[in-house]
Amino acid sequence: MFGHRMRAEWALDPRIVYLNHGTVGATPRRVLARQQAIRDEMEKQPSRFLLRECSGLVGAPRTAPTLLRLAAAEVAGFCGCEGDDLVFVDNATAGVNAVLQSLDLRAGDEILVTDHTYGAVTMAAAFFASRAGARVVTATVPYPSFDRDQMLQSVSRTLSSRTRLAILDHVSSESALVMPLAELAAICHARGVPVLGDGAHAPGAIALDLHSLGVDWYTGNLHKWAWAPRSCGILWAARERQPSLHPVVISWGLGEGYTREFDWVGTRDPSPLLAAPEGIAFMRELGVEAVQRWNHDLAWQAAQLLCHAWGTEHGIDERCTGTMATVPLPPELGSSPAEATQLRDALLDEEAIEVQLHAWGGRLWARVSAQVYNEISDFERLADAVARRRTGGAHLCPGAPPART
Ligand SMILES: Cc1ncc(COP(=O)(O)O)c(C=O)c1O
Repeated sequence: MFGHRMRAEWALDPRIVYLNHGTVGATPRRVLARQQAIRDEMEKQPSRFLLRECSGLVGAPRTAPTLLRLAAAEVAGFCGCEGDDLVFVDNATAGVNAVLQSLDLRAGDEILVTDHTYGAVTMAAAFFASRAGARVVTATVPYPSFDRDQMLQSVSRTLSSRTRLAILDHVSSESALVMPLAELAAICHARGVPVLGDGAHAPGAIALDLHSLGVDWYTGNLHKWAWAPRSCGILWAARERQPSLHPVVISWGLGEGYTREFDWVGTRDPSPLLAAPEGIAFMRELGVEAVQRWNHDLAWQAAQLLCHAWGTEHGIDERCTGTMATVPLPPELGSSPAEATQLRDALLDEEAIEVQLHAWGGRLWARVSAQVYNEISDFERLADAVARRRTGGAHLCPGAPPART
């Protein structure tokens, strides 16, 4: 149903085998066109558009919802929550920072993360913890053989009477694991610990029903798998968490309530947020389930194919796989972050393949993304390109910086 014929819907360079949809997303042409139409409309009367129609910052109190609230309601319907509980943020990093900044941390408190938490998120947690004399504690994810029950036990063991927040992935970044977030949240709640779900890779990638997750806050990106323009993130908060939650940028809305605070964080271009419903509409037309199934099946098949080609093992259960898969590279291709960077560059420069590679646990790994514009032949290209290098040998550049995303 999908595959290379879908490439026409994206502006991606046809010379590149694009296996990295997950890192920064890629926006369909029709969503970009919608964003441009919004910008054109905005430029006809920018003050009215931004201050009145978009945010309601200026003018008599309105009865009609603002454009941002209309967009939030559309997005909320897609994510399984109410529009009034959902606000836009630039990206998942901003959502995480808003929650961390709003916490009343004290000396001796703990923030729980895992050893698969996105590096920048762990850095933010450490930053806010250290300011308060608190600390970050790390639960170990059972990996590379992932086991859901062991994951629950690991988090349970790491919680303590001092834990004030658990930050838990819905889909982990480098390892691409779909985590048992609802079960993890239940364990944390049983111990009185609130949970921030990090869904940077979730909306659009996996079926998302925010209410049923039972977390306290949830942040995610729409610009990755929900086909929104960059930058478009969401932050959802349970009603009882909303009064104490503030945006990273404090502005005119302060004291006027959760959505008013987040709907105006200074002058910015709201077009990615207002165009987000177009990405959702496109996916609905194609069939949300059909899109997710294609991407999942392709990621799963790709993992088997790559491991078979490279003689490596994929220790992940299919139910813990979403639209990305992380597989080990042949050991002779290296083990260090510098080697990962060099191989990634070589695949791009010499083979026209864009793929995320990283070093972990003394070896290199490839995280492949599957999107409706990909077919299994794209992953065969990667399998062959890596296999050729395995026999040809890589030329290492010791000064290369480590991979970040
Ligand atoms: C799990 C996770 N959290 C947070 C982020 C940060 O996303 P962004 O850079 O869009 O803020 C990422 C990025 O890929 C991620 O994978």
